Amino acid sequence: MKKQNKTDKPRVVTTKTVTTMKKTGEKITMLTAYDYLVAKNLDRVGIDIILVGDSLGNVVHGYDTTLPVTMDDMIYHAKAVKGAVKNALIVVDMPFMSFQASLDDAVRNAGRIMKEVGVGAVKLEGGAYLSEIVRHLVRIGIPVMGHLGLTPQAINKFGTYEVRAQDRAEADELIRDAKALEKAGVFAIILEKIPSALAKRVTAAVSVPTIGIGAGPHCDGQVLVVYDMLGLTEEFRPRFVRRYEELGETMRNAFTRYIRDVRGKKFPGREESY
Ligand code: KIV
Repeated sequence: MKKQNKTDKPRVVTTKTVTTMKKTGEKITMLTAYDYLVAKNLDRVGIDIILVGDSLGNVVHGYDTTLPVTMDDMIYHAKAVKGAVKNALIVVDMPFMSFQASLDDAVRNAGRIMKEVGVGAVKLEGGAYLSEIVRHLVRIGIPVMGHLGLTPQAINKFGTYEVRAQDRAEADELIRDAKALEKAGVFAIILEKIPSALAKRVTAAVSVPTIGIGAGPHCDGQVLVVYDMLGLTEEFRPRFVRRYEELGETMRNAFTRYIRDVRGKKFPGREESY
């Protein structure tokens, strides 16, 4: 649970809170959400950051990759999340081709997210080549979270979802990218699916917090896709996902009992009727 502030109210998390947490050594907790009820429950138990990830393409819409996700999709889901959240910092992913083509696109689309939804920050996948975009967004008041390592929007370049930066050259490049993003002004960096020894080096090399997913225990915080940790994405079983529940099974049991009750004329009962 979150620490309480002096007035005993739950802490409202901002990008500044997150950067301070690295200095004080308090681990940062982050999960994804794409709808009102999940976001409401996350906020209620004191999660620090809620990510409206473009992983919604996979887990909500059933696409093979995140590439088809649009700005309108992100804004639609982010609005649902925003309506539920009082304390957590909400970060919204910039989807594929919403920022890569030009600085103009990046500003217009990040601006849409901030203006139409009213969240705390945006997240961009990519390394040093994004420095100019990050610098400009931060300058105009749009906080940016970086994302390095396995960046799913680049799946067609990688050709695989295997662990990234296992060789020296890619590891060194990732550290250079992290430093470039820090210099450009990101307030935190996601490290996805890289060796934990490398995540440790990156975490020591930058002053901004690192938040890991499949990047080991040395990051300043951790993030998972909420449907993975709840056991809803049952075929997806990478070793970095700890499944805290088996909601797929729980759901099927409930649906099966409902079907049985309706067919057996056991639902609705007298107490469920008017
Ligand atoms: O889209 C997403 O959910 C993400 C997380 C995996 C970090 O980017």
